[in-house]
Amino acid sequence: MAGMHLDRHSDMPLYQQVAAQLRNQILDGRLPAGARLVGSRLLAAELGCSRAIVLTAFDLLYSEGYLQSVPRGGVVVAAVARPSVPATPLPDAGSADTWLSTRWRSVLDTRYDFDLGSPFSTGTPDIADFPFDVWSRLLRQAWHNPTRSTCIDMSPLGWPPLREATAEFLGAVRGLLCRPEEVAITAASSGALDLCCRMLLDPGDEVWVEEPGFIEARWALKAAGARLVPVPVDDKGLCVAEGMRRAPNAKLVVVTPSHQFPLGVAMGLERRQALLEWANQRGSWIIEDDYNSEFRHRDNMPASLKSLDRSGRVIYLGTFSKVMLPSLRIGYLVANPRFIEAFGRGRARIDVHTAGTAQPALVEFLRQGHLLRYLRRMRKVYADRQRAVLQALATLAPGELEVPPTPAGLHLTALFTPRLAARVSDRDISRRSRATGNFIQPLSQCYLGEPDRQGLLVGYGRLRADEAHARLSSIAALLRA
Ligand SMILES: Cc1ncc(COP(=O)(O)O)c(C=O)c1O
Repeated sequence: MAGMHLDRHSDMPLYQQVAAQLRNQILDGRLPAGARLVGSRLLAAELGCSRAIVLTAFDLLYSEGYLQSVPRGGVVVAAVARPSVPATPLPDAGSADTWLSTRWRSVLDTRYDFDLGSPFSTGTPDIADFPFDVWSRLLRQAWHNPTRSTCIDMSPLGWPPLREATAEFLGAVRGLLCRPEEVAITAASSGALDLCCRMLLDPGDEVWVEEPGFIEARWALKAAGARLVPVPVDDKGLCVAEGMRRAPNAKLVVVTPSHQFPLGVAMGLERRQALLEWANQRGSWIIEDDYNSEFRHRDNMPASLKSLDRSGRVIYLGTFSKVMLPSLRIGYLVANPRFIEAFGRGRARIDVHTAGTAQPALVEFLRQGHLLRYLRRMRKVYADRQRAVLQALATLAPGELEVPPTPAGLHLTALFTPRLAARVSDRDISRRSRATGNFIQPLSQCYLGEPDRQGLLVGYGRLRADEAHARLSSIAALLRA
């Protein structure tokens, strides 16, 4: 029969290949209802296979209802098999994705330029010194001794020993006192944020977001149907009084108090207290994204909002993505046990639990002190890199860029002075930086509304201190051109 052939190198059994090709011909109308099939002997001869293979394929198609036999031993295509409506193919790539929900179209339509391979990428840690030997040994050991709880009965809130080890880690690294029952293991902080938004919000609920802020948080919020209310950030962090003026009854606020994304500033104590008080009075929720606070460059970093929380309104998010490996996709959430319990029930109904492959190895990595040792080393590395970037910026563009104090993390933001902003635009510099191989993100794409400041986001997670000057000179040249 036209267009049929068998692939003897394929793992698919030959009778399945014959059946699949006949099924396709029936479904796309090349073999219409009532059409008589060639005899099994002839088809077997054409395909160069045994008649038994063709007969097994026919049997399968009979049992699926695609074929029926007619008097005098013939085989015809069954009437029921004819599609009632011609298939409408999905629109071509490039045309509007009209089959997506309006919410998801708006998430996917937001333009966001970044390049994880750039030396200035903001969220990329350096993995060159990661102790892969230790990590692979712990993974091997964990899977040498599999248990029922790691293979089958993984809890939606994470493997209990990991919840315990994470609570200890947070005390040691962040001074955050919490009990294992206040910790849930999540699909990194993005997964935690996504489910929190979906579980807390009804479509149209108002949510304060930092302006400028973290675009990925806005995607999760938009996907949950939230109405985003941008609240400005100044040198003391989120302007709480302005949030209260713009949306006094917001259901939720998503905030990065220890190291604001993208400006890098830490939120002052008065603002923290005002935010907690407002949330307590209104019954609102606060999601504290404490990203990268493990990499503090000074010892006097403020305590987390969570540690000031007396009403259980703060949901604290953290991740092992940057202190270990981004592909691990393991993070954690610290919250009131009532919230944790509801979160676990929600998780069980959506994607059941965080993948269990790495959880037992991570417990040992934490318990044996490998992560603390690696973190101590990397803190120094990133502090040196931040210093090298600050020095290079001061020499290369004196008086043109201002860097807000940045107590932690893997990036800083170089703000344009009004004089520089009058001459160049950050989007234009960013666009032209691509060609130099040193792509740098513009601050203005972190705004929901009209940007009131211009600047560049200088990631230094992967930028060697001895390369900082040379790589930043190519950016400084663009500022002068
Ligand atoms: C502001 C902010 N929050 C959270 C994260 C961490 O995301 P995840 O834990 O999903 O890897 C990042 C990563 O770049 C970030 O920039």
